[in-house]
Amino acid sequence: NNAFVVGSKSFTAVAINCAAKAGEWIMTKLGNYASLEIKYSEHDLVTEVDKGSERLIRKLIGTHFPHHSFLGEEGCEPGPEASAKALEEAQDSEYLWIVDPIDGTTNFVHGFPFFCVSIALAYRGEVIVGVVYDPIKDELFIAEKGKGAYVHGKRMQVAEDASLKESLIATGLPAEREYALPLNLKGISELAPQVRNLRVAGSAALHLAYVASGRLSGFWEIGLNSWDMAAGVLLIQESGGVVTDTSGAPYTLGVRDVVASNGLLHKELVEALKKAEAAE
Ligand code: IPD
Ligand code: CA
Ligand code: CA
Ligand code: CA
Repeated sequence: NNAFVVGSKSFTAVAINCAAKAGEWIMTKLGNYASLEIKYSEHDLVTEVDKGSERLIRKLIGTHFPHHSFLGEEGCEPGPEASAKALEEAQDSEYLWIVDPIDGTTNFVHGFPFFCVSIALAYRGEVIVGVVYDPIKDELFIAEKGKGAYVHGKRMQVAEDASLKESLIATGLPAEREYALPLNLKGISELAPQVRNLRVAGSAALHLAYVASGRLSGFWEIGLNSWDMAAGVLLIQESGGVVTDTSGAPYTLGVRDVVASNGLLHKELVEALKKAEAAE
């Protein structure tokens, strides 16, 4: 009797299969996508490859688990209100797949090799499986609730840096430029002098996977969506790290402003961001 298996079908195996298939297809389109559209603002892009990746994943999940619900970025109306509403509606479902078909679309468009496919499965609002796949490095990050998290089959463990001054922290420059970007910039100017260094590489899901694997000490960003985070958060929790919102409250699927770390420097990171938010 295994919570991760229905009949003979393992949720995790299907998630891995979807991520691998989508990733493989995305790589055939790198440098030769056909259409570029602007979504919410000129900082928010979508290509036919994002849409095709989501279609492929949705179809594959649907054939295995026809009664499960599905929330994918490209199936939602653009904009923060629309995506919050879509999550609220979907959250009532027993099993909900939460999918970002390409996290790091801007990188994909420019050929900057840092993007991934992110697939999570939530059971009654709690994430139980998380898979993040980086097709450039062929790296597969996998977590199952209560069972640990793995990369290349090797158990992951968060970094041991105990203070901000020894830490490598990542963040993002959100597409939403009125609220999220200015607030994130305040965080950057507060933290840059305090940490060993900052990184802004353009994929929230991959940054979270890097916190899980100890390559980054922490990550924060304002104004993210459930599909950017759901899989990566479980990777971190199952690798011994901590994820909260910017006030320090525990992560839930509705969180937009996220702080993730190895745990040891979490309090320091949250306090620095609070101070940044309060600054003029
Ligand atoms: C974006 C990336 C980026 C982050 C943005 C996200 P997308 O996702 O994760 O790093 O800064 O806030 O929207 O649009 O490439 O899937
Ligand atoms: Ca997007
Ligand atoms: Ca994303
Ligand atoms: Ca995306």
